[in-house]
Amino acid sequence: MEILTATNKDWWKASADQLPQIIHEPPGPVSKQMHANTEKYMRGLSGQVKLFPVCFEEGHGISLTDSDGNRYLDFSSGIYVTSLGHCHPKISSAISHWANRLMNMHDFTTPVKEKLLEKLVGVLPAGLNSVQLFSDGATAVEAGIRAARAITGKHEFISCFRDFHGKTMAAVSCGQMIRGDVHSYGPTRAPGFYMVPRPDPYRPLWTKPDGTLDTDAYIRFYEQFIQESTVGNLAAFVLEPAQGWAGSIFPPDDFFPKLRALCDQKGVLLFDDEVLAGMGRTGEWLTLNHWDVVPDIVTFGKSFGNGFPVTALVVKEEYAEALDKISGSSSYGGNPMACAAALASLEVIEEENLLENARYVGEKMMARMRRMKDSHPIIGDVKGKGFLLGIELVKDKQAKEPFDKAGQLVYQKAFRKGLAWIPAGHILRMSPPLIMDEHFAMLGLDIIEESIYEVEKEFGYH
Ligand SMILES: Cc1ncc(COP(=O)(O)O)c(C=O)c1O
Repeated sequence: MEILTATNKDWWKASADQLPQIIHEPPGPVSKQMHANTEKYMRGLSGQVKLFPVCFEEGHGISLTDSDGNRYLDFSSGIYVTSLGHCHPKISSAISHWANRLMNMHDFTTPVKEKLLEKLVGVLPAGLNSVQLFSDGATAVEAGIRAARAITGKHEFISCFRDFHGKTMAAVSCGQMIRGDVHSYGPTRAPGFYMVPRPDPYRPLWTKPDGTLDTDAYIRFYEQFIQESTVGNLAAFVLEPAQGWAGSIFPPDDFFPKLRALCDQKGVLLFDDEVLAGMGRTGEWLTLNHWDVVPDIVTFGKSFGNGFPVTALVVKEEYAEALDKISGSSSYGGNPMACAAALASLEVIEEENLLENARYVGEKMMARMRRMKDSHPIIGDVKGKGFLLGIELVKDKQAKEPFDKAGQLVYQKAFRKGLAWIPAGHILRMSPPLIMDEHFAMLGLDIIEESIYEVEKEFGYH
């Protein structure tokens, strides 16, 4: 069997013809029935699914088809996962090649693993070259935390308000778990894990005299916090380069360089969790590349295998031994299908110039969103880089009170018009596949703008 070596950049265009196409108001009758049957047994569904229970049957490129025959424009990439579109022929072919040849050989090497490692290290900043592979983001983060302990011999961690790092216990300890009834399973933060505020330019906690965010004040606070709150055993700062779940929030440009300097000064590791924002989503392989900052530890997931469960933990060469100390291997980590998916995904990003596409189309989207902000009374802020974007809805621009109900209604209305996407309360999150061109990006924003206008009318703004 031949593995595809290259594809036509326009492979998805034919399946995007006449997109979106709604023939039964969604969720349609078949979707409703399928969802009801599933919900009889499956619990713990996300808010996204509960708000719009659709049954999906097929995906190709940027289009998704539900069980009632409705076709949607994909503005979410699953949940930041299928970043190169559904069923990319090169990636599907690479997975099926190994599915027919060798499925799992624990952590023995395979030809495809050897190639993936070389490719991965080749796209990362120099020195980040010691790797372990896993099959979900939380496990990679968890291993990163153990590695940070092994590297430093210390056991305390600082992470940030409203960051998310996964749902295993250590990952929960450094994230903001406010989902579900968190009190039903006891304390969610293990001893030694602390949280601090991180800079959000729209909602700054500390400002300069001109009212703009004061990054230095945050850094001074961290310094004082380390002094006063920890017991002098701080191993790492663990944080997302840009907040995904919290609503596509990017820090000001001087934040990460200053945080890197603080970590160096204090002898603390910088652990960059790029599971959501990494591998091209913001127009760079690593989001930290935007600010020329190199972390000590980094995790990847989601886009890494474009839907196949494969994630990675990478540490600097000088810390390689820590991955031996923590016994990094796992049952599925780095199986041949996973390596094939990740290798093909990295190659596709290069072959199809998708970093450049994300930067170009993302900037066009930001320009359009800035115009939307000027003409809509409930759009308080627009934010993002590449294809990690957000529109923040507020009750009024002066008071900036979050408008959750509007967020929910805009999400549902736009979905009904054929836009498959992800809500985040009052912040509308957008994460289209990196293959999306300007035409479809603007089409998605048309749907969102129309839905925002309808909600504004319902609430008496027009
Ligand atoms: C930044 C970040 N880290 C880790 C995770 C956990 O990944 P997974 O759901 O694959 O365990 C997520 C998931 O959304 C994430 O956004």
